[in-house]
Amino acid sequence: MVPRRSSIESPVARDPIPPTVAWRAGRVRLIDQRALPIRLRYVSCATAAELVAAIRDLVVRGAPALGVCGAFGVALAARASSSEHTVFAAAARVADARPTAVNLAWGVDRALAAYRAGGAGGALACARELAAVDVAGNRRLGALGATLLPDGARVLTHCNAGSLACVGYGTALGVIRAHHEAGRGPSVWVDETRPVGQGARLTAWELDRLAIPYRVIVDAAAASLFAAGEVDAVVVGADRIAANGDVANKIGTYGVAVLARAHRVPFYVAAPVSTIDPATASGAEIVIEQRRADEITLAHGVRTAPRRAEVWNPAFDVTPARLVSALVTDAGVVPKPTGARLRPLLALR
Ligand code: MRU
Repeated sequence: MVPRRSSIESPVARDPIPPTVAWRAGRVRLIDQRALPIRLRYVSCATAAELVAAIRDLVVRGAPALGVCGAFGVALAARASSSEHTVFAAAARVADARPTAVNLAWGVDRALAAYRAGGAGGALACARELAAVDVAGNRRLGALGATLLPDGARVLTHCNAGSLACVGYGTALGVIRAHHEAGRGPSVWVDETRPVGQGARLTAWELDRLAIPYRVIVDAAAASLFAAGEVDAVVVGADRIAANGDVANKIGTYGVAVLARAHRVPFYVAAPVSTIDPATASGAEIVIEQRRADEITLAHGVRTAPRRAEVWNPAFDVTPARLVSALVTDAGVVPKPTGARLRPLLALR
């Protein structure tokens, strides 16, 4: 069951983009990303099952946001039941809601450890802390990443790795935002990001609110832009980074990385250390989510492919570490990431 919708935009929000995930009166309040950019509205989840439905339905998406949702899912389950068995079972369902972003299971595990030590209150305190840490970490990451970009940088990004993919500020968009806030005049090429359009719908909406100049392109236009010398850097987010530095991110990212290498443009990945998965040795082990055929065969509910068209719709692809110029994290910048260079970060996860 998809959880019920609640109130509209808060008039007191100081950031032009309200928090993606927040705890409000015993519920988890999410920006309903399905409605953007047309409407800013919220969905309120009272149970872990409602949160699972919201995650599956892309009400909320983006690896860091999913990590915090994972923790809040445990908090909801712990408030609802005094049975440890029931709480663990609900936590497992939250962790399994989507397979690729490692942050989801990371957030669940962190909150379960807090639940074991401090019960329902411990789980909730943990979730709230992870939410606050997300925003602070993204600001840090953004400031570090901005130093890698030249003044007036024309930055290409793919998918949405902004405030909406986190609790606030953003990872890849956090880098661009920090550059903008430092008065260094970035502009952004926004891949629309087929098939679900997180770039055209969400990244463009955020850049609009932040008054950062941008232009939306179809994914297939990126090659021509590189060829014309119109891209100074690529900055993207990540859903899971393997221990050897391979990066899973939204489908199409690998193609952008190949283009960047062919045109000698730096390709940066921005992500918190919670996105690095020590249990996944290389990109070959990352489970890639397959999504519904109608994301491709329908456009705005109208059929655009034959009814019997067969479809392959992976949500993510893997960019090999050798194509990554640097990984920008909340704990520092890792140039040309390798297993040995990532190892010290794993202790900070
Ligand atoms: O399928 P989604 O929308 O959950 O995909 C996640 C993403 O938004 C991206 O892959 C993103 O670039 C990394 S998460 C900051």
